[in-house]
Parts: sequence; structure tokens; C-alpha cells
Amino acid sequence: MPEVSDHPAIDAEAEARIIRDFLRLTFRRFTETGDTYRSHWLGVPAIKYPTDLMMYQELIVRRRPDLIVETGTHRGGSALFLATICELIGHGAVISIDIGNTPDKQLPQHPRLRFVGGSSTDPDIVAMVHARAAELGQSRDDGAVAEVMVILDSDHRLLHVFEELETYAPLIRPGGYIIAEDTHVNGRPNWPEYGPGPGEAVALFLTRHREFQVDHACTRFAMTLNAGGYLRRRALEPNTAVDA
Ligand SMILES: C[S@@+](CC[C@H](N)C(=O)[O-])C[C@H]1O[C@@H](n2cnc3c(N)ncnc32)[C@H](O)[C@@H]1O
Repeated sequence: MPEVSDHPAIDAEAEARIIRDFLRLTFRRFTETGDTYRSHWLGVPAIKYPTDLMMYQELIVRRRPDLIVETGTHRGGSALFLATICELIGHGAVISIDIGNTPDKQLPQHPRLRFVGGSSTDPDIVAMVHARAAELGQSRDDGAVAEVMVILDSDHRLLHVFEELETYAPLIRPGGYIIAEDTHVNGRPNWPEYGPGPGEAVALFLTRHREFQVDHACTRFAMTLNAGGYLRRRALEPNTAVDA
């Protein structure tokens, strides 16, 4: 076993190229073979890289959210994952919203998980989520507002993600997270023909909300579909001037 210092040095440029090529390779294999739909959590399909699920687990354990809001349910595997981790730590509930969540849709059942049908930006749904967060805040022992974590994985076009960020970010407490998924599209480095998507939405959002910053530690595994998409709220009021 060689010492770590025996490994050949890789400069920053080479490292960036390797990561980019690796993300292209994994995404191409996933899309060409349909393997994207073959990741499962407890038997339910989840469209996630395992490293991003690992990161969600770390954030849940660290932040102990009272409420996790997921936009974009698909088959429910990612929502079930979030509920499972909440169950393991004995805290938290999950709301997963999807325009395709109809009453007859087959979705996993879990006591900590509630599915909602409709658009994530529908004013009634947004009001319901905000009301639930307020309720959970009132039931906290410390009387603080609820700890909420939000994962955006629905319609990935720029305007929709931007609207979701504007809509749900006010729920995030200092130190908490809102995550814009699939920042890799539109040539970042995948799917160049996608058009403006989550990466562009995040960039626009950050120009208006300096109380949020990208937490690069959340993508330290490099294999992620959400590079630059893990946004952490700083301990600042909205629009406060801060040093970069
Ligand atoms: C990428 S899938 C979600 C994947 C799921 N989170 C997982 O990891 O397994 C995107 C989902 O967003 C839903 N969707 C599209 N537009 C939406 C909207 N405006 N509001 C809520 N859901 C939407 C689609 O029906 C689709 O099921």
C-alpha cells in the first residue's frame, strides 16, 4: 500500500477535467441505459446519485429538520428515503409535492410522509406548506420557528426553479438548507441543449439573496447532480450586505 504522498500530483485544472468527464460518463450511462430509473430505496425507484442521498442523510442528522419539503415526487423513492432517515433519528416529517400525484397513484406509505398533488408553486399548496411549518414551529419546545429543509426536484426550467427558490427560501432558518437539484444540465456539464435550468436559477437567486451561499462541502464527493445547488442560509437578514 503506497503512502498517500506517493500518489502523482493532480493539478486543479486536471482535477476539474476528471470530475467533469466523470459526471458526463455517469450521466450518459444513466440516460442511455435507463439506469437512472433503476436506483431504488427500499424497493422504490429514486432518481438520485447515492452520494447525494448520503449528503441528505448528513444534513438531516446535523440539522434535525422539523419539516422536509420535496418538490417532485416521481415514484416516491427519494421521499421515502427522507422519511426513513427522519424515522431513524426519531424526528421530522416530509411533504412531497408533484403535479402528477393523483389519488390513484401508487406511492410508498410511511407515517412521516405525506404526498400532495399539484404544482409546487400553486398558491394554495405554498400556503399549506407555510402553514404546516408555522404549526410545527409553535409545537417546538424552544419556541423557535420550525427548522425546514427544502429539496427542489420538479420542473427544472429556470423560471420554475427560480419561483420555487423565492417561494420556499423564506422558510429556511439560518444554517438551514434549500437544495436546487440537477444543476448539471444545460452544459454544466451535461445535457447542453436543455436550456436555462437550475444552475441559472440559482445564479439569479444568489444575486438577490446574499443571505444564502453555496455550501461546497456538500458536494465534496464530486459525484453529484447538484453541484452549486446546496444553498445554506447565513445568519443574516435578507439583503444585508456581506463580505463574499
Ligand atoms: C425528476 S422527477 C422527481 C424525482 C424524485 N424526486 C426522485 O428523486 O425520485 C420530477 C417530477 O417533477 C414533477 N413536476 C413537474 N412539474 C412540476 C410542478 N410544477 N410542480 C410539482 N411537480 C412537478 C414531475 O411530475 C416529475 O414526477
